[in-house]
Amino acid sequence: LNSMPPLTIQQALLQAKQKIDALDAELLLAHILKKPREWVLVHPEARVHKVYKVKKFIKLVNQRAKGVPLAYLTGHKEFFGLDFEVNKNVLIPRPETERMVELVIEEIKRLKDQKITMLDVGTGSGCIPVAIVNHIRHNFSPYQGEREGVCLKTIAIDISKKALTVARRNARKHKVEIKFLRGDLLSPILKSCVIHHTSSLIITANLPYLTNKQFNSSPSIQHEPKLALVAGRDGLRYYRILLKQIRKLLEIKNLKLEIFLEIDPSQSPHITKLIKSLLPNAKIEIKKDLTGLDRVVRITNYAA
Ligand SMILES: C[S@@+](CC[C@H](N)C(=O)[O-])C[C@H]1O[C@@H](n2cnc3c(N)ncnc32)[C@H](O)[C@@H]1O
Repeated sequence: LNSMPPLTIQQALLQAKQKIDALDAELLLAHILKKPREWVLVHPEARVHKVYKVKKFIKLVNQRAKGVPLAYLTGHKEFFGLDFEVNKNVLIPRPETERMVELVIEEIKRLKDQKITMLDVGTGSGCIPVAIVNHIRHNFSPYQGEREGVCLKTIAIDISKKALTVARRNARKHKVEIKFLRGDLLSPILKSCVIHHTSSLIITANLPYLTNKQFNSSPSIQHEPKLALVAGRDGLRYYRILLKQIRKLLEIKNLKLEIFLEIDPSQSPHITKLIKSLLPNAKIEIKKDLTGLDRVVRITNYAA
């Protein structure tokens, strides 16, 4: 890819495909030209007139060849049918996380007519709460006293200021109302009274859950923030602290609580043991993702 314009789309793609996957090349060129991929495919003879566009394409192709994820190069990733802005400060939303979104939506549907507060811990791009609130907004009417509906207040927490900037932009883009708080796991909640008026609390968390060993042996994730992925020797560092904080929360307030945690499939026996020791009265269910692997732990703690 060293020719300068005028280069046709076909020529640009042919050269890029020597370095990267054909689909990635088409998507990158479509991104640069601000056109859908289909347009690029049906206009092979069209010329890329602007020099800076060719230069930018060459740069992106080289970055992709070095393993930078496509989503970071285009700045976008689709999740639960919605377009999310992403950058190197947030984890790229994964398709397996859509399972948690589905489970939470089912639960909110079941709980309708109650005042629900949802807390998303380690929100990253905000994909989990934005997808849930967006779905609820389009599929359920708001709760109005006697009338059926959903009354949902949503709070999202992350320790990373830069991740919260991206999450706020995604919430704005999809016109959903979410309160964002910066802090260490549930500490901003334990310090404040934001959940005082709720009868049902749903906690969602896709916290870092990889071991250092898993992280180091996976080349495809090296460009994503380590802070978003790695959690101590057994990968359960953050879930252990979170569950202890939840136990504390239950001592302060008698709540009906549902917790949804995304895990690595290998962790299900260890996390089950951990939950049993910290929340002995809770009901634990392990839900599988679309590929049949253990992916979401659902914990129900019935209010006394
Ligand atoms: C695995 S990423 C998940 C992001 C998003 N929930 C998703 O599903 O794409 C974990 C997120 O947790 C955040 N995080 C890490 N440690 C944290 C902590 N102690 N308190 C709050 N958030 C934390 C990271 O900044 C990162 O955004």
